[in-house]
Amino acid sequence: MGQLLPDKSMKDYNFLQQKYILNTYPNRGLTLIKGEGVYLFATDGKKYLDMMSNYGVNIFGYKHPIITQSLISQTKKLTNLHGSFNNDIRALAAKQLIERCGNKFTQLYFANSGAEAIEAALKFIIVASGKKKIIACENSYHGKTLGALSVTYGEKYRKPFEPFSLDVTFIKFADPLSLEKAIDKNTAAFIVEPIQGEGGLNDPKKGYLEQIKKICVENNVILVFDEIQSGIGRTGKFLASLWDNVTPDILCLGKGLAGGLPIGVTLVNKSIAAKISKNIHTSSFGGNPLTCAGILATLKLLDEKRLDHIKLMGDYFFNKLASIKSNLIAGIRGKGLMLGIKIKNNERNKVLKLLQNESVLAIPSGDDVVRFLPPYIIQKEHIDEVVEKLEKVMRLL
Ligand SMILES: Cc1ncc(COP(=O)(O)O)c(C=O)c1O
Repeated sequence: MGQLLPDKSMKDYNFLQQKYILNTYPNRGLTLIKGEGVYLFATDGKKYLDMMSNYGVNIFGYKHPIITQSLISQTKKLTNLHGSFNNDIRALAAKQLIERCGNKFTQLYFANSGAEAIEAALKFIIVASGKKKIIACENSYHGKTLGALSVTYGEKYRKPFEPFSLDVTFIKFADPLSLEKAIDKNTAAFIVEPIQGEGGLNDPKKGYLEQIKKICVENNVILVFDEIQSGIGRTGKFLASLWDNVTPDILCLGKGLAGGLPIGVTLVNKSIAAKISKNIHTSSFGGNPLTCAGILATLKLLDEKRLDHIKLMGDYFFNKLASIKSNLIAGIRGKGLMLGIKIKNNERNKVLKLLQNESVLAIPSGDDVVRFLPPYIIQKEHIDEVVEKLEKVMRLL
């Protein structure tokens, strides 16, 4: 009799995934099947210290009792409901999210991913301004659907899909003068990440957000903050832009907002909200009650004490990384638990591979940065372990 199921070795699932799923992702060569706390477990039972929380999604690690409980209980009640019907959990999630953003936005749109939140933002910009010229930044990352891609920087992502329907100008990041120069009468909006995540963990000088806000207000340009990666506590404040107390006209959120479930949110101010009409943008799954239960659990867990912990762990991690002695390290960057090490000599991918061999999972950023986006439940002993292993890896290179 032939075997009906593949044998449960890592090689088979690796083989099956590579065989049946389109080859759009790099392959880390690791099959992970469950998670608990800060750890992910492979098919052979080996545990990995998760220092990337799935690119910033699983911010409370895995199997968190409060998140798990709220998702199970909502699953038993109602998982999906079209937006044309009202729902208790969805309404509460929207209200609480707007409140957590300081009541600076009037209304929001629920999407299912970061890129979708950006798509919605771009459509709202066009409807509100009647214009299609957008300014974005070099090294930006806003997602890979066609609209989001048109404001994402980088030949390697863009080239096959050009030209885009939006007229996008890329300017230097963290340079208010470039923004001033790029604006003309056709400019609808400026979209920017308060800290660039995919583009190399670039944290602008204090004052940058305030300056760009002033320029946008003076020129009647819609300001959009993409806090899909930097938001929801990642830097030690609910939003990275709160470090400078600057509020954009449109805010995009995603990643860790819904307890690990797919999410994207576009929040808008009063004047933009007033111009959005029925059926301009909808989604079968947007704002589904299951995801919204994840949002409510996340907002509950993300209190001041947790934000203080993120700040504390972030500073501890930053200082420990900065103390590593290696000629291959060109600098430490980022804020809170959004940190990176710039690696010289094209050795970044080797560092990631060797760390993985040491049971530590980190991810790339830009061309030469090792990025850490650990879950917020991380403790000093986990950071000590990572730094020790990193020192070992650097000695091997
Ligand atoms: C700043 C930023 N914007 C947008 C996105 C796209 O989000 P998603 O992958 O959920 O579509 C990402 C994803 O990494 C991101 O970091």
